[in-house]
Amino acid sequence: MDLEIRELTISDYDDIIRVWSISGLPFKPKGRESRQVMEKEMANPNCVYYGLFSGEAMIGVVIANFDGRRGWINRLAIDPDYRGQGLGGKLIARGEEFLRAAGALVLCVLIEEINYPSVSCFQNNGYNCEHEIKYFTKRSSPDA
Ligand SMILES: CC(C)(COP(=O)(O)OP(=O)(O)OC[C@H]1O[C@@H](n2cnc3c(N)ncnc32)[C@H](O)[C@@H]1OP(=O)(O)O)[C@@H](O)C(=O)NCCC(=O)NCCS
Repeated sequence: MDLEIRELTISDYDDIIRVWSISGLPFKPKGRESRQVMEKEMANPNCVYYGLFSGEAMIGVVIANFDGRRGWINRLAIDPDYRGQGLGGKLIARGEEFLRAAGALVLCVLIEEINYPSVSCFQNNGYNCEHEIKYFTKRSSPDA
């Protein structure tokens, strides 16, 4: 397979949404993943979107962002036709390179407990589950 990872721009918006949609990944097209918010996010030097391409076809996406303390991997998705080949790990590794270069000493990801493939994927790539932590949020709207 002829694979390439490259940094995405807002001109990739429709493809990003397509990959998340076919992947069954929950995302927020009226909130954090609207075109407007995504464009702003992509202009932030501490946040990067990477796409995995097979030829010209985008088959995976990941967001890496450094919050000044921790490095976060977000919205990782691989096209269902390409799963189980460690491709998620390739995008994680590219995100980690960016986060380490930004200064992150701790790399993290939030995963729903029942998302077994994602749990496996991150464990296979060196992440430990911190069982005692619960995720609390305060949202500006349900779509945010
Ligand atoms: C999570 C995800 C990115 C992993 O990508 P991937 O490239 O398939 O990852 P891996 O090849 O490392 O496989 C991870 C696990 O997926 C499962 N898997 C293996 N083959 C699979 C297949 N053909 N189809 C579906 N899942 C498969 C296995 O549980 C595997 O774990 P194992 O290697 O310990 O057996 C992908 O499953 C995905 O896009 N899921 C939907 C979106 C999502 O939930 N993203 C994560 C949000 S936190």
